[in-house]
Amino acid sequence: MRRSFYAAIPLLIMVSSLCGAQELPPVNYDESKVPAYELPDPLVALDGTRITTPALWFHKRRPEILELFTREMYGRAPGKPERMKFELLEQSDHALGGRALRRQVRIVFDTRHPEVAMEVLLYLPSHTPRPVPVFVGLNFRGNHTIHPDPAIRITKSWVRNDRRLGITNNQATPQTRGIAASRWPVEYILSRGYGLVTAYYGDIDPDFHDGFRNGVHGLYPNAGDKHGPEDWGSIAAWAWGLSRIVDYLETVPEIDRNRIAVIGHSRLGKTALWAGANDQRFSIVISNNSGCGGAALSRRRYGETVARINRSFPHWFCDNFKKYNENESALPFDQHMLIALIAPRPVYVASAVEDRWADPRGEFLSCLHAEPVYRLLGAGGLALNAMPPLNTPAFSRIGYHIRTGRHDVTLFDWAQYLTFADRYFKDENR
Ligand code: GCU
Repeated sequence: MRRSFYAAIPLLIMVSSLCGAQELPPVNYDESKVPAYELPDPLVALDGTRITTPALWFHKRRPEILELFTREMYGRAPGKPERMKFELLEQSDHALGGRALRRQVRIVFDTRHPEVAMEVLLYLPSHTPRPVPVFVGLNFRGNHTIHPDPAIRITKSWVRNDRRLGITNNQATPQTRGIAASRWPVEYILSRGYGLVTAYYGDIDPDFHDGFRNGVHGLYPNAGDKHGPEDWGSIAAWAWGLSRIVDYLETVPEIDRNRIAVIGHSRLGKTALWAGANDQRFSIVISNNSGCGGAALSRRRYGETVARINRSFPHWFCDNFKKYNENESALPFDQHMLIALIAPRPVYVASAVEDRWADPRGEFLSCLHAEPVYRLLGAGGLALNAMPPLNTPAFSRIGYHIRTGRHDVTLFDWAQYLTFADRYFKDENR
């Protein structure tokens, strides 16, 4: 057995080199080994023009940066589909012991392909003046995982197998009801006067590399073999799905369309930032532990790097992004410019101290280096010039905290997001 394993090693090496698996430098967690780097200036256009007025930012530099991120990183998504349909699946005015209105709605993206659809779950507070502000965020395992409420429909979409949870054929099981509840404190959110809107990200695009055929990719002519180097990856598809949720929310009179916050954790935090950059209907954007490809600066090469993320998740970004593997200095942007695309809207970036893979300092520095754009637009900035102590949130127009603990979404995180939202949504002078 052993001998045959060793005998196979040359073959394994040959197969991995044929597959293009490249030997990457070890993961760096040592601040003193962060390479020297120079960040592109968000306020200098590609042609050298200095951006000195809001008009120059909005008409010249912002569209330029958005185009660069689209073409070189996340990929180009289609616009709003022409043949969408919203179907009410279930509704209750007395959900969660009378605390909430619950609604479950199917969004069909293209009525010619009704099998590609996203189920949206809404909880709105019962005793809050309408229209209410809401948080919108995608979930990782199905709507039924965010709360034990037995009325939540169990997803029928592809889910990752997990033997511990009895998932063996990529179908969700009843025992997964409520397993992500600690990340979704529904009653607390409602008690603070906000609604919560969520959908399963796998409804939009299953999170594995199938050559851009399944999910919403398959609805468009550039799917599969026709997928080009600047066509949308999965993060762009999930972000596009978030915008389709807003299309639906705009039809719901109980919801205040001017007070929609988008939130996401980890890969879905990257998604929330990209959704917020593209769609100004999100009036607050929240990134929870989004890391590489989200809030963290790529040039620092701390924790996860561009080459590593592209190797592990070849479907997340567009193919052009692979040009920057081990070559971050060639990027015409860095992630501080993704934050800047959200300006002057409030943005909140949260890190966790044990989440070194996501590079907390790199997440903070993106906020700091986005600040000149916020200041140019008269929106204030970060109100910090160094990382704050643990568990000490800074609630400026760019909000930030680093909390104790690991990669996760906790009640502490939600408490800060709600306070941040109160500041911008409940202020009479907003
Ligand atoms: C992996 C990946 C990260 C991502 C995370 C997640 O760790 O490397 O980039 O943020 O998964 O989404 O949970």
